[in-house]
Amino acid sequence: MVDGGVGFALEVAEKMKIKKAAFWPAGVATLAFFYNILKMIDDGIIDSNGTPFKKRMIQFAPNMSEINSTNFIWANIGGGVAQNILFDYLWKTTEAVKVADTLIGNSTYGFEPGAFNLVPNMLPIGPLLASNRQGNSTGYFWQEDSACLEWLDQQQPNSVIYVAFGSFTVIDKIQFQELLALGLELSNKPFLWVVRPDITDGANEAFPDGFEERVANRGKMVGWA
Ligand SMILES: *[C@@H]1O[C@H](CO)[C@@H](O)[C@H](O)[C@H]1NC(C)=O
Ligand SMILES: *[C@@H]1O[C@H](CO)[C@@H](O)[C@H](O)[C@H]1NC(C)=O
Ligand SMILES: *[C@@H]1O[C@H](CO)[C@@H](O)[C@H](O)[C@H]1NC(C)=O
Ligand SMILES: *[C@@H]1O[C@H](CO)[C@@H](O)[C@H](O)[C@H]1NC(C)=O
Repeated sequence: MVDGGVGFALEVAEKMKIKKAAFWPAGVATLAFFYNILKMIDDGIIDSNGTPFKKRMIQFAPNMSEINSTNFIWANIGGGVAQNILFDYLWKTTEAVKVADTLIGNSTYGFEPGAFNLVPNMLPIGPLLASNRQGNSTGYFWQEDSACLEWLDQQQPNSVIYVAFGSFTVIDKIQFQELLALGLELSNKPFLWVVRPDITDGANEAFPDGFEERVANRGKMVGWA
């Protein structure tokens, strides 16, 4: 799996002249996109911190979907230090990936032919679906909580607010309580809220006093969905 640590391992293996294969779990288009970071800087599409100069649609290869520059992942996490860290991390990781002799991709040629043409050493073996033969979840950080499916089935169609902040974001306890907990309570609508167990800084019991009881009849909180 390609992350910062794997990037380092690839560099070491390169120095030791060992053959290297790396697994890319996301779509190939994502990697093709990251491969173009330097070119986008050269072409004046983004500055050296990844900030797009203007809103525009970009296409990296024929038959690849166009991407709106305002949707670049690093440009959507609040700017400043967070953007710099993420941009730098993605860039460095991508550079490390380039030394792999073979990339094993969780995709298939027919899904994204344009992107595969940009990453010619990608061997498609995917998509690897959610479960292996033993019934274990794959590709997830935590055990899925499927209780929410049964709960969802009991709600009216199109009635539920879904809230999830992904596996990346950590917010402080006050933001968590005001923005999310109290906001959801005031909405008076049914909601499914995926609350990563360690989403707030250092606080396990982050819900406001009595919140869980007050929303029990219309709110469902799960750790991972
Ligand atoms: C790309 O799309 C065009 C039509 O839009 C099609 O004729 C061509 O076969 C496609 N190429 C690939 C590699 O899928
Ligand atoms: C790109 O996204 C921005 C922000 O959502 C939007 O204002 C703009 O119209 C979009 N551009 C195109 C060409 O769709
Ligand atoms: C998942 O894998 C573990 C061993 O890693 C095993 O004990 C367990 O029975 C497997 N199956 C399920 C459904 O968790
Ligand atoms: C492979 O991609 C699919 C989506 O296409 C995803 O559901 C799955 O979790 C991924 N598998 C791994 C091992 O990352």
